Amino acid sequence: MCIWKIRGGERLSGRVRVQGAKNAVLPILAASILAPCETELTNCPALSDVRTCVHILRCLGCAVERDGDTIRVDSRPMCRCEIPPELMREMRSSVVFLGAMLARCGCAALTKPGGCELGPRPIDLHLEALRALGAEIEESGCGLRCRSPRGLRGCVIRLRYPSVGATENAMLAACAAEGETRIENAAREPEIVDLQSYLRALGADVEGAGSGRIQIRGFCPVERVGHRILPDRIAAATLLCGCAAAGGDIELCGAEPGHLLPVTDALRAMGCGVREDCGRIRLRSEGRLHAAPPVVTAPYPGFPTDAQPLLMAAGLRAAGTGVFTENVFSDRFRHAEELRRLGARIRTEGRTAYVTGVEKLVGCGVTATDLRGGAALILAGLCAEGETLVRDDGHVERGYEDLDGQLRQLGATVEKRSRMC
Ligand code: EPZ
Repeated sequence: MCIWKIRGGERLSGRVRVQGAKNAVLPILAASILAPCETELTNCPALSDVRTCVHILRCLGCAVERDGDTIRVDSRPMCRCEIPPELMREMRSSVVFLGAMLARCGCAALTKPGGCELGPRPIDLHLEALRALGAEIEESGCGLRCRSPRGLRGCVIRLRYPSVGATENAMLAACAAEGETRIENAAREPEIVDLQSYLRALGADVEGAGSGRIQIRGFCPVERVGHRILPDRIAAATLLCGCAAAGGDIELCGAEPGHLLPVTDALRAMGCGVREDCGRIRLRSEGRLHAAPPVVTAPYPGFPTDAQPLLMAAGLRAAGTGVFTENVFSDRFRHAEELRRLGARIRTEGRTAYVTGVEKLVGCGVTATDLRGGAALILAGLCAEGETLVRDDGHVERGYEDLDGQLRQLGATVEKRSRMC
């Protein structure tokens, strides 16, 4: 548990570097067991989810070491293909190890990731894709035992929904399949493209990531591979929305402007000045913003669901009413209740939230409900009068390497204290 203490009213200014992408490093760490090889990943963020991933790799028998933002994995000594339930519970996205273990060992055992703060987290699309490739999967309670006694065979996988995790699991398992695999209606997120670039470096013949159709034709693994993780577009969106909320003038370096266009377009529409060039995004926010334009979350390249709470925080004191429709997760407005405690005017009806800007917010004690909801509360604290205390039971540190340090570097009065309890 930790407590974030934010004193509102400070404008932000200065320059910070964007961390490496959580949602790219996690599947790539899983992919590092596809073949006995040595992998060196740079620009890896220091996050609790990454530490959990490293723990899982060691549990499978891999040797893993971290040196600053570099993680080295030696998967040659891998000797197990079962992930203990306590590790599965720590990180829901550990299900992406399923396809990689099946590809490497022909078997895998793990427990289903629980539902989380965003609603149920089914994995039916993952299991359908792996069964299409020939996996035999036994589900008992929350346990999963998978085997491929006759190996995996290439096929056409048509995803009913462009699930990020299911696309990743299918890509990893297909690397070990006999013949060609085509994934239709695949997720198109930049993190999928980054996974493809790692797989190519590893010796996989894969193309099409970023389009709705991915083809995997074979895998001739190399012994040693290096890869640099792409910038975290949601961490970038967090800092931009923070400056929009607090006012000021900041520049992000090591960013990829093309990966968060729906967010920067919305911030421009709210009255922020946004300038993008190679690897940099600059945002200026002066005076009262206009309410956010209608936001409808959707799979990439639509408006990212992970940025919905963040843009909501940016518009809490804007003029007018912003309408947010959350189409990706069924329960992703829990942060609204906490934002109301600060004085925000938010009305939710099913998958839609109506946010009417108020003149002022007043700091108080609030509780982080999930990773991005917790970040939204911190951003709201930047523009609330007085002090806001955010109780966080480990959510924010799952996705942000040093959000408090970055905000302080930009001039905010933010302090994060761990509490043993
Ligand atoms: C990834 O989660 C990200 N996590 C999420 O980021 C992100 O919000 C999400 O993609 C959407 O972009 C990682 O990459 C580690 P999905 P994932 O499978 O793969 C339903 C963050 O804050 N679904 O695309 O779990 C599911 O219930 C996190 O960084 C099924 O119904 O997302 C959801 O409603 C939060 N059956 C929708 O699809 C399935 O088998 C999108 O899920 C799988 C998913």
